[in-house]
Amino acid sequence: MFQKEQQLIEDKVKEFCKANDIALAELKWQPIPFSGEWGFATSFFQTAANEAKLGKGNKVPVPQKAQEIAEQVKVQIGSVAGISHIEAVKGYLNVYFKTSEYAQRVVDEVLTNGANFGKGAAKTETVMVEYAQPNTHHSFHIGHARNTILGEVLARLVEFAGYKTIRASYPGDLGLGVITVMWTYDKFYKRQEPAGVHERGQWMLKIYAEATALLEKKENETPEQTAQREAYEAERREMYRKWDTGDEYVRELWRVTREWSLEELRDILHMLDVNIDVWFYESEVDEPSKAIIKELIERKIADDERAQGGPVIVKIDEKLGLTKDKYRTAVVLRNDGTSLYLTKDLALAKDKFEKYHVDRSIYVVDFRQSLHFQQAFKILELWGFKQAEKCYHLSYGYVTLPEGVMSARKGRVTLFKEVYDEAIKRVLSVEAEKSVDIPAEEREKIATQIGLGALVYSMLCVDNNKDIVFDINEALSFDGKTGPYIQNAHVRANSILKKSKGQKSDLGPSTFDYELTKQEIELIEQMSQFPQKVEQAAEEYRPLIMAMYAYDLANAFHSFYHAVPVLQTEDENVKNARLRLVAAAKQAIANALRLLDIQAPEVM
Ligand code: ARG
Repeated sequence: MFQKEQQLIEDKVKEFCKANDIALAELKWQPIPFSGEWGFATSFFQTAANEAKLGKGNKVPVPQKAQEIAEQVKVQIGSVAGISHIEAVKGYLNVYFKTSEYAQRVVDEVLTNGANFGKGAAKTETVMVEYAQPNTHHSFHIGHARNTILGEVLARLVEFAGYKTIRASYPGDLGLGVITVMWTYDKFYKRQEPAGVHERGQWMLKIYAEATALLEKKENETPEQTAQREAYEAERREMYRKWDTGDEYVRELWRVTREWSLEELRDILHMLDVNIDVWFYESEVDEPSKAIIKELIERKIADDERAQGGPVIVKIDEKLGLTKDKYRTAVVLRNDGTSLYLTKDLALAKDKFEKYHVDRSIYVVDFRQSLHFQQAFKILELWGFKQAEKCYHLSYGYVTLPEGVMSARKGRVTLFKEVYDEAIKRVLSVEAEKSVDIPAEEREKIATQIGLGALVYSMLCVDNNKDIVFDINEALSFDGKTGPYIQNAHVRANSILKKSKGQKSDLGPSTFDYELTKQEIELIEQMSQFPQKVEQAAEEYRPLIMAMYAYDLANAFHSFYHAVPVLQTEDENVKNARLRLVAAAKQAIANALRLLDIQAPEVM
């Protein structure tokens, strides 16, 4: 926001150091939080240390030397437009703004840029984010929701920071779980599937759990039960074999049931406003992955133990020359020549870089697959795939409910759609009492925005590596770190602006040359941090940073709202300045919510 002043001062510092033969280190600027005035600062310690290393300066201690340089630089800079004063303190150069100008600048910057406020400069790199990749033949549960929301928000942040961004999905559409559902369906439920995209998805989950129970060995089985179970098991295995050999009946069964899941997935992604650019499928990288294994064997990176009845393996630690157990030994092809999950990830990584020309590849996948990704990336490295170092696994924890951990195999999961429906229902019942003046249809739309906002924010306000215990009552609260609390700040800003339209006030030019309240200062300060927060969240792959920031921003606005009069202000200039501040806050909150994949309602 203050690049111009910063650059001007930086140029003067450089000029001075060059003229005086001082080995200037890179200048790192830090904002100075409000302390009577806003400012930014840099230190000369590194420069002083450089000088000492070169044997210059008659052994003056580094802190003293830094202070000397700061003082000289200060004199050299003189006065700069928009800057109130400059200090040289303890080796630092502190540059302060005139408060009114700073405030004005922040507010103007937000209002001029609108939806683009906070956006980073365009970068040359392309980043691929892979997420929203549940296995097919199951229903979408709350854990998948965490995955999808984290991935989408990361993609939005990276994109807004200025990178070209590709959103990718990679559903697991083959394997034993898939075959299990197909077998049960074919055997017991053919053409009994319920109508409705979500009902059908949920039903598949139910029959999957039933099948698991049927195929599980029980204690005290009678011989008949054992025989029955083994017969079922043989049928399932036979179906798997037929799938592998491309049997037309089984393939058709697969295509149809797979499409049911994908339809449900697409519908949920639509509800979450997620638009995937590239769909990869496990089934499509199966064949290419086998070719990679062939090469790994030829190049002696993999050991083929199939002749001895074993699989194809890569002794990763040994090949890397590690003496301690770290990446261990990974199986990359079964004895019967079928690929594994790991095998397919080798081909997938290659496709991502080669077909889509990405520079970085992020995988949003839960923490249980950490070793899997470390192994995959290391095998790629051993294979000589340079971009392996540009692959990054963004891991995250479980979503549990107050009742305990989920298991798809046992059918004990909390479905996203159920929680979604419940959240909206609850908001709607409150709204029905509170907002009678809003037409029913409108109310329904708002309830969806709030219910979903609550759900989404609760998935973002916990650090990735921590588990979430999802409590719907907490998520829906209008107080504390919740989606509705932030949305409500937007609504309040909007209501002030709406009311102002009936008054003789406008959003035209106004100045902040009055004594700002501490709430105004805090609000301006929060807004000024928006661009850095975007940058930081995107560089560190941490949506949490944006989630926390949005809360702080909303909090600053709520405090302002409670303490500072806007429309009741006598002084026309102050009133108009505050109105502009409110308009800027509304915009900044809307932008933050958008990055968090949360809607910003106008009323609620
Ligand atoms: N489908 C997998 C699962 O549900 C996640 C896929 C992760 N991505 C990958 N490239 N392996 O566990």
